Amino acid sequence: MKREPVLTVDGLVKHFPVRRSSKVVHAVNSVSFTIGSGETLGLVGESGSGKTTVGRCILRLIEPTSGHVVFNGTDLTTVSKSRLRKLRGSIQMVFQEPYESLNPRFTSRAIIEENLQLAGVASGSERRRRVGEVLELVRLPARVANTYPHGLTGGEQQRLSIARALSTRPDLIVLDEPTSALDITVRGDIIRLLRDLQHQTGVALLFISHDLTAVKEISHRVAIMYLGEIVEVAETDDMFSRQLHPYSLALLASVLFPDPTGPLGRVRVAGEIPSPVDLPSGCHLHPRCPYSIELCKEQWPPLREVAGRRVACHRAEDILRGAEPRAIDEVAS
Ligand SMILES: Nc1ncnc2c1ncn2[C@@H]1O[C@H](COP(=O)(O)OP(=O)(O)OP(=O)(O)O)[C@@H](O)[C@H]1O
Ligand code: SF4
Ligand SMILES: [Mg+2]
Repeated sequence: MKREPVLTVDGLVKHFPVRRSSKVVHAVNSVSFTIGSGETLGLVGESGSGKTTVGRCILRLIEPTSGHVVFNGTDLTTVSKSRLRKLRGSIQMVFQEPYESLNPRFTSRAIIEENLQLAGVASGSERRRRVGEVLELVRLPARVANTYPHGLTGGEQQRLSIARALSTRPDLIVLDEPTSALDITVRGDIIRLLRDLQHQTGVALLFISHDLTAVKEISHRVAIMYLGEIVEVAETDDMFSRQLHPYSLALLASVLFPDPTGPLGRVRVAGEIPSPVDLPSGCHLHPRCPYSIELCKEQWPPLREVAGRRVACHRAEDILRGAEPRAIDEVAS
């Protein structure tokens, strides 16, 4: 289904300076994607691949080095701070650690009301009414309004974070690992809640997670990141049934088929993720890639359309046709 884009991220770059050095951490390197109205995009990738940095740049919690973030037609990277404040209610964020992101000295009511006030809801009665509405939306009992965060379970705290985010009627919520800190038994409840809330409100979600099961359950499309770049984007069913980028193949195989000697578990990448300070030449995966060829050392592969998805690999067509990977101990590092 074609959806109007709520968010267009175009060529986003974020470098962090390395202390006492002229080098930089290439945390995000030219990331581009869109999220449609009412859509969930899952953003996955191993630790350090740049997922959180992308999320924080979108909200300008940190300043992007370059690139554009266009939200409902407004380029957030160039708007003034005062205009950005006005837009704050329309994009909200939910963090991994609910307790750390909730002010322990505030009741749930005060936490939600503060967010409404920041988004410019001036009327006290309007704010009080909205607190009742959003607590009901996230299926927390009304008495929670007078409870402090420490009096709530981890799952309830995350519901409160979601209620706070929803209170301003945003068009987009960036959720950074919203289920990772939670007990496994409540993760599914939070995912189902988010899906229901999306149906009810039409909010778009950027769902950042390591948890591929959760990503599969909630996302319409999935984007996979490696060393600050998106290497493959596809509809969720397409991504889980077939991967065309060697890193996606390895990432999904390691989770879905943990037995490396099994027929579907055999695609692995060699060694460890390199430092984002000294990126490899050409394709950043080449020292680890079981499909690499000479060209990969020299030429960086841009994200391009292959078989109805976007892939950043010189050999995507060969992999589509069933090219075999080299054995992992034959991959030169
Ligand atoms: N403030 C900072 N200063 C310097 N380097 C940073 C800073 N924030 C992040 N980085 C680096 O940028 C890279 C990307 O980090 P980021 O937190 O975005 O990754 P991530 O994909 O969210 O990882 P995780 O799955 O562990 O949350 C990492 O190498 C990280 O060390
Ligand atoms: S471009 Fe080359 S090194 Fe990079 S993922 Fe594709 S085959 Fe591997
Ligand atoms: Mg992170």
